[in-house]
Amino acid sequence: MFNIAVAQSGGPTCAINASLVGVYKEALKEPSIDAVFGSVNGLEGIIQNHMINLKSMILTNDDMELLKQTPSTVLGSCRYKLPDWEEDEEVYKQIVSTLKQRNIGAFLYIGGNDSMDTVNKLSEYFKSISLDIKVIGIPKTIDNDLCITDHTPGFGSAAKYVATTLKEITRDSIVYSIPSVTIVEIMGRHAGWLTASSAVLHAMGETAPHLVYVPEAKFSLEGFLKDVRQELSKHKAVIVAVSEGIEVPDGVQSGVVDNFGHKYLSGIGKYLEETVRNEIGCKVRSIELNVMQRCSSHLGSKTDIDESECIGAAGVRAALNGSTGKVMVFKRVSDMPYTVTIDSADASKIANQEKFLPKKYINSAGNNIDDRALEYFMPLIQGELNLVMEHGVPKHFAIHESVLK
Ligand code: F6P
Repeated sequence: MFNIAVAQSGGPTCAINASLVGVYKEALKEPSIDAVFGSVNGLEGIIQNHMINLKSMILTNDDMELLKQTPSTVLGSCRYKLPDWEEDEEVYKQIVSTLKQRNIGAFLYIGGNDSMDTVNKLSEYFKSISLDIKVIGIPKTIDNDLCITDHTPGFGSAAKYVATTLKEITRDSIVYSIPSVTIVEIMGRHAGWLTASSAVLHAMGETAPHLVYVPEAKFSLEGFLKDVRQELSKHKAVIVAVSEGIEVPDGVQSGVVDNFGHKYLSGIGKYLEETVRNEIGCKVRSIELNVMQRCSSHLGSKTDIDESECIGAAGVRAALNGSTGKVMVFKRVSDMPYTVTIDSADASKIANQEKFLPKKYINSAGNNIDDRALEYFMPLIQGELNLVMEHGVPKHFAIHESVLK
């Protein structure tokens, strides 16, 4: 008998808790697994030996269903960068001490490309000291920028929120007779997947978003103003989707960086709003979707939530089958009918890498999305959650802060 450890890391999504449920449920089926320990605040919990037996937290099947409709990371998160073990072994020793003390046979890490660096480093380290603890990565990120996997858990729900919100903004923006520009800032760091997903509205006959700017296409202010003027000559209310990560003059976005050296990006929408106001002078608003795009589980994609649970479960099976240093990935078999299978790939090929929007998904002017991208996005946003409601709002699985202390 042995125990397993699971942790959640990086930026929250609507689907990370579904992957946790997948891990937990699958582990419960396995007679050789005794307990599942959840690490509080990602890897930091393992380093500090701060872990919770999930049995004391997730008590019933209803709890599991609630968790699946609860956004964020119920166990907390971190952005912790492990040093190279050849240079600094101390923290690795602390991790090994916790894992041994808790008789852990496998560690499942739910996270993005930075967390897969942890999966890679830990699995290599354990091999180097002949320690038989399997390390498996379960992908997640609204940015959809992990290599090898067709898409990432969390992305579909964020894309569904973005598309729905853009559609609602479109209805709101056309009520007045005067021309207007509405600029919507969307997350995604260096990759434009989430911003591009707003173009699914075109498949529904909407002309909005009229302009879409992603980091993969060169951006210039002159080009932007020319585009906006041109769209204003055709449409009374112009809707612009812009990625937080497009390149703009220094100082527009915050210069603050996290442990992985990533800049906190935010502010491009406001900057473009001021530019339109000063240069064009029409009614203009900017809307930063901010954290709502990654925590609005009332608009979660059922496809996304179901797949996230399945890939968590698949991670446990991979570990039981002896895999280590692997990340679970989706392989798309077909768009229509939409089918995926789950496979695994070396963590070293995913860690710290970014997958960008293919050029063929961007129009030739670099200011909108090609229709060819729509068949990729559409299946990921399908299906609605049958939400449990309480007092008129979605019920969430909440654990008392003291449990996490
Ligand atoms: O995890 C990805 C992400 O949501 C990005 O889209 C965004 O740029 C970043 O995280 C924001 O980081 P934080 O959660 O630290 O605000």
